Amino acid sequence: MKLVVYLYLSMIVLGVQAWPTVKRSFELYPGAAMPYNEHRISDCMHVTSEAGDFVFKKSASTPAAPPLAGLNFNPNAELLDLGNEELEAAAVAAAAAAAAATAVAAETVCGLYVIGEPDTIVEITMKHYDVNCETGGLMAFVDGWELNGEYFPAVKDHHRVLEDRVYEFCNNNKQWPRYSNKKFFRSSQNAALLQYRLPGRGSFVANVRFHKITQPCNVLVQDTAAVYKMSNFGHARNCTLSALFPAAISLGNVRIGSKSVRAQEKVNYDCHLLEDRLEIGGSAGLDTSSMELASAVCGASAELGPEQAIYCGVTSVRLVSTGRYQNQAAVIVRKSDEHDLDIATLMCAL
Ligand SMILES: *[C@@H]1O[C@H](CO)[C@@H](O)[C@H](O)[C@H]1NC(C)=O
Repeated sequence: MKLVVYLYLSMIVLGVQAWPTVKRSFELYPGAAMPYNEHRISDCMHVTSEAGDFVFKKSASTPAAPPLAGLNFNPNAELLDLGNEELEAAAVAAAAAAAAATAVAAETVCGLYVIGEPDTIVEITMKHYDVNCETGGLMAFVDGWELNGEYFPAVKDHHRVLEDRVYEFCNNNKQWPRYSNKKFFRSSQNAALLQYRLPGRGSFVANVRFHKITQPCNVLVQDTAAVYKMSNFGHARNCTLSALFPAAISLGNVRIGSKSVRAQEKVNYDCHLLEDRLEIGGSAGLDTSSMELASAVCGASAELGPEQAIYCGVTSVRLVSTGRYQNQAAVIVRKSDEHDLDIATLMCAL
């Protein structure tokens, strides 16, 4: 009996000792030690901040489009009263409606919306794609996010023109030899989008990775409470930080504008007329070029400024820089709620 217990104990001890060696030997092969992340794309608008492979597959049988309310048509009714002209007209209308509904369903554009840490860019590699151009299938990589035809970063605030920011592709099966070459894309900021439209069957596997950058400009806010450092790093450029929610904004460590503007060691919230300024405001959609302004900030102070709440679908902070000065500010963002109404400085029309 004693022997059995001893054996059992030594097995445990040996087991514990053996485990780290086994584990270490795995670490010699980085590929084996790294967790292999495979994600299935399930929603039409799939938002992710994770790296790994994203798999989408649609089989040939498309589910029938649901009948539109008010245009329901009972096919049996036709058998009961063939001579009824009204019913025939209704049948034609219903058939047209069904066709339209199918067409709409087929044209649905879905997307993998990728968002990373503020100081990263997104890299997407198409490991595989079977998206037939002939049946209307199409994919597109977007350098930024697109929602309802609006883009982040705003078209005029991006160093690349829109045509260069949207890259469309699909498989041309008429081409021989067929080749589905690997596609490789990188975004200019922490937000990127992979759009797809698949009327028929099709599939793809997209690998998502993030890379650190040293001078982030445009940033899409991921967290509902965080501090962001905005700076022009001495460049002539306009950088926008956008949160897709109503937010309370406060500033710290502000240094914006010329020497004379900074001389007073205080922050001015009414610098609309100055070229170098930090704009705080909001818009209903992603396009910040139509944003309403709550304040335009310049000056200098190391202290934390007051909070202001922006009640808009999208809250944005935009640093406008001529390149003549080193502008910077710490932007504190948190999601606002009904308790922040007394600090509201802007309410967008719904
Ligand atoms: C930045 O924005 C201002 C106005 O908002 C504009 O006049 C200026 O040309 C822009 N600068 C760059 C580099 O795009």
